Amino acid sequence: MIELCTEDHRGDPKVLTWWLENKTAANFEARIASDRNVALVAEREGQIVGFGLMDRSGFIALLYVSPDARFCGASKALLAALEEEALAAGVREMKLESTNTALRFYTDAGYSPDGDPRREPCGTYCHPMTRRIGPGA
Ligand SMILES: CC(C)(COP(=O)(O)OP(=O)(O)OC[C@H]1O[C@@H](n2cnc3c(N)ncnc32)[C@H](O)[C@@H]1OP(=O)(O)O)[C@@H](O)C(=O)NCCC(=O)NCCS
Repeated sequence: MIELCTEDHRGDPKVLTWWLENKTAANFEARIASDRNVALVAEREGQIVGFGLMDRSGFIALLYVSPDARFCGASKALLAALEEEALAAGVREMKLESTNTALRFYTDAGYSPDGDPRREPCGTYCHPMTRRIGPGA
């Protein structure tokens, strides 16, 4: 987030503090372990280079790639795998809130705006997006 999402945080320490506050190991462990979530990793040569987390309603909460693996297909592969999991669970509409940084990525992947951008308390914006999946989508 620090290295990639500069378009969002612009190096503002207040934003970074707010963003990183809940990114603790305990929080990640709990979210990964929860039955309500699906967590996937992308690997390259045995190393984890990406991480995606979705709840069972098809809401993608997290999609991260390691800066040294950027634009190598990790997020595309994770997104496709999460959509596949959602489809298998009967979900027909994916949802997420994009950063400014990832807006083009999701748009190119077929996601459309799903309401107005939401301003977070730290001042950055989330862009609600959606994509129908499955037969007839
Ligand atoms: C933008 C980002 C999501 C792309 O993921 P990635 O694993 O680096 O890249 P991938 O190889 O999987 O996807 C490449 C696609 O991203 C898009 N893309 C290319 N350059 C881009 C850029 N500068 N900014 C945004 N998207 C870009 C294109 O659609 C590209 O597809 P193409 O090569 O067919 O044109 C990632 O680099 C990033 O910045 N992540 C930051 C964390 C974040 O914001 N996560 C989303 C939270 S909701």
